[in-house]
Amino acid sequence: MNANITVIPAKAGIQTDSATASSTVRELSTVDGLGSRLRMNDKIPSWFQVCKFDEIPVLGARVVERSESEGGNVAVFRNSENVVFALLDKCPHKGGPLSQGIVFGERVACPLHNWSIELRSGEAVAPDVGCTKRFAVKVDNGDVFVDLA
Ligand code: FES
Repeated sequence: MNANITVIPAKAGIQTDSATASSTVRELSTVDGLGSRLRMNDKIPSWFQVCKFDEIPVLGARVVERSESEGGNVAVFRNSENVVFALLDKCPHKGGPLSQGIVFGERVACPLHNWSIELRSGEAVAPDVGCTKRFAVKVDNGDVFVDLA
């Protein structure tokens, strides 16, 4: 684990309703199935513990702060279905902070020019074209982990 990495709330002033959140918490499998068996040439995951699941607001995000040399910040989103996603916090258009965008369904609307980005793949929704890096994410025993490898 890198000592320079910190986790911050994505939006100041947004509070998690822990009573509501805890009643809807469920264990989620990895979004991309990395929890299953690794193959010979697969990279070894480097799971970073981000926060508790309840600490990510519904339709909100948390940010794993990393320097540019470490690859840049990672945004960890939670949608209304309590599914967690992780993308590089940089819009494929002009680098807007996706963690400050509006989450809807399995997409986030960039706060700068309103492109929609697929949370599962990082792809811009047509007619826009581009892709931001996605990260594997999992929830284990109420803790959220992102693969920063
Ligand atoms: S920077 Fe995201 S839509 Fe332009």
